Amino acid sequence: MDHDLTVLGLESSCDDTAAAVLRGRTILSSVVADQTALHAAFGGVVPEIAARAHAEKLDLCVEQALQKAELSLFEIDAIAVTAGPGLIGGVLSGVMMAKGLSAATGKPLIGVNHLAGHALTPRLTDGMDYPYLILLVSGGHCQFLRVDGPTSFLRLGSTIDDAPGEAFDKTARLLGLPQPGGPSVERHAHAGDEARFAFPRPLLDRPGCDLSFSGLKTALLRQRDNLVADQGGLHPQDVNDLCAGFQAAIRDVLVEKSRRALLASEGITGFAVAGGVAANTPLRLALEALAADHGHRFVAPPLALCTDNAAMIAFAGSEKFAAEGADDLTLTARPRWPLDQAAPAALGSGKKGAKA
Ligand code: KG4
Ligand code: ZN
Repeated sequence: MDHDLTVLGLESSCDDTAAAVLRGRTILSSVVADQTALHAAFGGVVPEIAARAHAEKLDLCVEQALQKAELSLFEIDAIAVTAGPGLIGGVLSGVMMAKGLSAATGKPLIGVNHLAGHALTPRLTDGMDYPYLILLVSGGHCQFLRVDGPTSFLRLGSTIDDAPGEAFDKTARLLGLPQPGGPSVERHAHAGDEARFAFPRPLLDRPGCDLSFSGLKTALLRQRDNLVADQGGLHPQDVNDLCAGFQAAIRDVLVEKSRRALLASEGITGFAVAGGVAANTPLRLALEALAADHGHRFVAPPLALCTDNAAMIAFAGSEKFAAEGADDLTLTARPRWPLDQAAPAALGSGKKGAKA
């Protein structure tokens, strides 16, 4: 691959509008405009609001990314854009913008799968070689992928209901803790006793690498309601212990399923984890220890590149361009776009829409 290729990346599939300029593996700029405040009152991402905000912000993000990179549009070699999966209005905004830029400048257009962006990030940050195993674990995704090439993926398992970040967020809501839930729950769990309350370990009794998290929040709700019925409310230590028990259940399930995925992945160069939930320290440490037990290299990219950004889209675009060339102006936005085309549709979708 030509490492000196300069690529402009665009991302607008969820609730972050982002643009970045990448040269080889060097990030010249990465701009992310998040929409959290716009959706806060609704308890989730509202697709129409997201789409409008993307349409309003994309050109500003591109302008800023070019300015920070100290380049003009005509000094870019190619334009990469998330063409799916995600909320269709947002994906369409990005694809239309990229087509316009490509038509105006004559630069090649590359449609990128958002999940490929996440899955290829360990190559951008740590130069990981194919094939490797990655666990994508966030508020919108949860799957194990063996990454064989820029467009070649084998899905070993995925959530059949919620994504773990979603479960963390719901747990925080049930306990009256602030959003995003993951960091709040982790903080309280630190002072808690994970053995006080019994939480299930969903799907460990079934073979394979599929995961389930919706039962955990139901278990938490039941424990909380029992305490409220018995004591008339929750003591601070109850909250800490509930958080600790819940977090330990997520950790144990992800570690055991990762162990199975590693055993099913011969010849890999290492194990990587990406997504917002990878910020959870006990989980990260447990996965690192697991990889070491199996004699594998462990890579967890910095959080700013684990969560949604356009640098990963520019990078995945440059890898795809080198392998397969560009798309043309018939590129379409795809709300569903599984990375592993041979795998059956995943049931779990995550809070931000279909992400199989
Ligand atoms: O990757 P991300 O920023 O966005 C997508 O969902 O695509 O992930 C956000 C999710 C949220 O659900 C948040 O609660 C969770 O990641 N999260 C954490 C932690 N930090 C963020 N979950 C557990 N522990 C954390 N420290
Ligand atoms: Zn994402």
